[in-house]
Amino acid sequence: MQYAESRDARELPDNEFLADVILGLSQDQKTLSPKYFYDQQGSEYFDEICDLQEYYPYRTELAMLPTVAQDLGNYFTGNAPRGLEIVEFGAGSLRKVGALLRSLQNVRSFTAIDISEAHLISACRVLESQYRELSIHPCVHDFTKPLSLHPSERTRLGFFPGSTIGNFTPQQASVFLRNAGTTLGTGSFLLIGVDTQKPPTILNQAYNDPKGITAKFNKNVLERINRELDGNFKLHNFAHHAFYNETVGRIEMHLRSLKEQQVNIAGHTIEFSRGESIHTENSYKFKPDDFTELARQSGWVKHHLWLDSDKLFAVYLLQYAH
Ligand SMILES: C[S@@+](CC[C@H](N)C(=O)[O-])C[C@H]1O[C@@H](n2cnc3c(N)ncnc32)[C@H](O)[C@@H]1O
Repeated sequence: MQYAESRDARELPDNEFLADVILGLSQDQKTLSPKYFYDQQGSEYFDEICDLQEYYPYRTELAMLPTVAQDLGNYFTGNAPRGLEIVEFGAGSLRKVGALLRSLQNVRSFTAIDISEAHLISACRVLESQYRELSIHPCVHDFTKPLSLHPSERTRLGFFPGSTIGNFTPQQASVFLRNAGTTLGTGSFLLIGVDTQKPPTILNQAYNDPKGITAKFNKNVLERINRELDGNFKLHNFAHHAFYNETVGRIEMHLRSLKEQQVNIAGHTIEFSRGESIHTENSYKFKPDDFTELARQSGWVKHHLWLDSDKLFAVYLLQYAH
């Protein structure tokens, strides 16, 4: 296993996390980027969320992937003469790429990009033990930033499952899609999983599981600040709050202060009034036509769209035409 060349996340200045936290908690609407959920503990909580019955996006997409992969296998046979290179964004535990690797016969290399370093490396080691012929490259990188990959003559297939694209505002999603196009190159493909709009009851249940795993995942960002930035958040003074905002078509996750309080982070004091919240994540839900249009405006043309029978989740094959 060889690291991919770019390992920008390792090159971040030590204080970038601190600078983002102080800036985010100084806004009128206090905010923290969802990327900070994901240290080793956060990645493990996310895996637990995926195993919840309420969390339909994971199991629905996973169930769709064998069919998607079979269709891709038919399409790429003869269309990728020098073989395929899969590049996964936000790779996590690599539970989904196996469906592609089993159906696509001509995948020569796999680059897995994620910000959660230890988790990424161990997931790549497991994959390596299952696919010994495959050249696997973990790439520790913040995918909100541009990335250059080594030149390749292979056909590149980007893979961005999990509806992680929904964590961006539509404007940020467009920037991501353009950057991904530049990273993968003109003519390359992107297989992307996107959550659909649906009745609020289903959405609200998915982000408010009765076991409280999503709440732990949400609060992990506070624990992380305590661990890494010498913070003194008292977790019992904050409550997980997730709801579907129908006006903008997104789930919002917040951490709500249960009392008036002060928190210290590396010498900075942050004041909270009772009921004030930190906005920690958005999860946008897209109508297929709206997502296709967003992709088109970002340089990507829709090749194919798969929807499950209940229209709970959509998987798109896009091609970068810029
Ligand atoms: C919602 S999880 C999806 C995981 C997996 N792809 C799936 O579909 O089950 C998001 C993944 O993206 C990673 N991630 C989040 N923000 C990131 C960023 N800015 N740069 C790189 N990886 C990021 C997280 O570490 C996590 O593994």
